[in-house]
Amino acid sequence: MVIILIYSLPRKKNLREPSMEGLDSPEVAAAFEKVTNLLPFKLLHRKVLSQLKLYNLKDSLLDVGCGPGNLIIQVAKKYPSLDLIGVDLSSEILELAKKKAVENNLNEKIVFKIGSVESLPFPDKSVDFILSTLSLHHWEDPKQAFEEIFRVLTDGGVLLIFDFRRDARKFFYGLLKFATKVVVPKALKKINEPSGSLKAGYVFSEISQIISQTSFSNVYIKPYLAWMFIKLDK
Ligand SMILES: C[S@@+](CC[C@H](N)C(=O)[O-])C[C@H]1O[C@@H](n2cnc3c(N)ncnc32)[C@H](O)[C@@H]1O
Repeated sequence: MVIILIYSLPRKKNLREPSMEGLDSPEVAAAFEKVTNLLPFKLLHRKVLSQLKLYNLKDSLLDVGCGPGNLIIQVAKKYPSLDLIGVDLSSEILELAKKKAVENNLNEKIVFKIGSVESLPFPDKSVDFILSTLSLHHWEDPKQAFEEIFRVLTDGGVLLIFDFRRDARKFFYGLLKFATKVVVPKALKKINEPSGSLKAGYVFSEISQIISQTSFSNVYIKPYLAWMFIKLDK
């Protein structure tokens, strides 16, 4: 009963608080890598993987803001014929991703590149599918990022984004606070993560407004309790 009551408390209406862009210190990168091995992250990534089944993945897939590579490694195991690329702003986190790919015997399969979503190191119309999880809320210039993704996607290509929504129910904020006390490493607590990421997340109206100023016209946003999927077709 109490749980139902807390769960149904109104959503947060706070103003957005932008968070840091790249996870670019070795301590923060290592701490984040630890966290992504925890069950909640695995479940979130599993949810994204199950969404991929809905698409006809053809030649290439790019994971933008790939972090320590957990998701793209799962993608490589499920879709061995795809050309896979992981891009991230942080060289520290990419080192961890490369190491993980080697441990999984997938270093020949996945190319990791340093780069920003606002200036991707790829030619026009060169990637069929772009995926990004829990990274959008870090992007300094999301409008430019969406334009850049549009440039790189092939005609008919798809962008799928999974990210937190700031107007998650209070229950989720409480859950994160509890998790922070119990399992989050010090280096992340110091930079106010993970709750900083939730507070930096967009709400439906904000992100719809940003996308409406870009070249994407086929927009589909599906909000869930504390996160949302954004699907854009070129
Ligand atoms: C919270 S982590 C998520 C990592 C991974 N996608 C996952 O789901 O585990 C966010 C990642 O986005 C990266 N990032 C932030 N801003 C970026 C940008 N402008 N371009 C590319 N990567 C960025 C960060 O360095 C970090 O590795």
